[in-house]
Amino acid sequence: MPKPGIFVTRNIPQPALDRLEEVFSLSIHASDQAITRAQLLAAVKESEALLCLLTDTIDRELLDAAPKLKCVSNLAVGYNNIDLEYASSRNIVVCNTPGVLTESTADLTWALLLACARRVVEGDSFVRAGRFEGWGPMLMLGVDVFAKTLGIIGMGRIGSAVARRAEGFGMKVLWFDPLIDPQTVSAKYERTDLRHLCASSDFISIHAPLTPATRHLINAELLALMRPHTVLVNTARGPIVNEAALIEALRDNGIFAAGLDVFEHEPEIPAELLAQDNAVLLPHIGSASVETRTKMALMAAENAIAVIQGTEPPARVN
Ligand code: GLV
Repeated sequence: MPKPGIFVTRNIPQPALDRLEEVFSLSIHASDQAITRAQLLAAVKESEALLCLLTDTIDRELLDAAPKLKCVSNLAVGYNNIDLEYASSRNIVVCNTPGVLTESTADLTWALLLACARRVVEGDSFVRAGRFEGWGPMLMLGVDVFAKTLGIIGMGRIGSAVARRAEGFGMKVLWFDPLIDPQTVSAKYERTDLRHLCASSDFISIHAPLTPATRHLINAELLALMRPHTVLVNTARGPIVNEAALIEALRDNGIFAAGLDVFEHEPEIPAELLAQDNAVLLPHIGSASVETRTKMALMAAENAIAVIQGTEPPARVN
């Protein structure tokens, strides 16, 4: 019997490709660059499974171009790039990669938080530009992290992992998450509403999924509640923050700094944001370690294999 076909939309770690080849006839866009829409539409025609990335838009048109499709396996925990409702109506199983990237993403969140607080990137640029003329009592003053208050928006797996790290810094943790049962969150952390969190936290970190309810959740009004020493970190999804309002807050010193791994119109970043020294900007690398990306790719492979073999995949979202 011929093997079912899977299409993989970009180069991914080899162990996952090896595993997929045991079960599937594998086609791949063997590149580190994103596949074009036209290429993707043509590539999925005969596929029974699709292993895609958060940069691929899996909408109605794409799903209609793939009449044999049984599984969309997203190499990411977030799946806002997929029309879940339409996939479900077509009985296409959608899967993601939760859990395996939790700790790596929490680590990167802390890298951004500390870099913003202590102006690490700005300091590095300053030294490389030959501007360091010796120790100075007023040189590059940041804000302390130890014993401050961290506000977490989205207290799921990643938010909780960020909170655990805050304990090592002696921090008080506030959290806001309308979707989480408070009983499942440690009583060490204080549940609060979003306005109070924004007004009372020294550091604010976003770990919510992007949904219609969270798009532009952080807007000009909430940014205005934050204080001039507040640091905002976003390693979730760019459109959760109104980027134009954030740029204004950074420019007017309404907040101290922002650490961003994600952007509203990724990969485009407004020139005004690039110009802000008080923003640390990363290219969406929250889960980008060798170990984690390998685990994610293997999980995405096992998801697709399970669906094709008619068993329950490790992480199904519909
Ligand atoms: C990355 O952003 C992911 O959703 O896994």
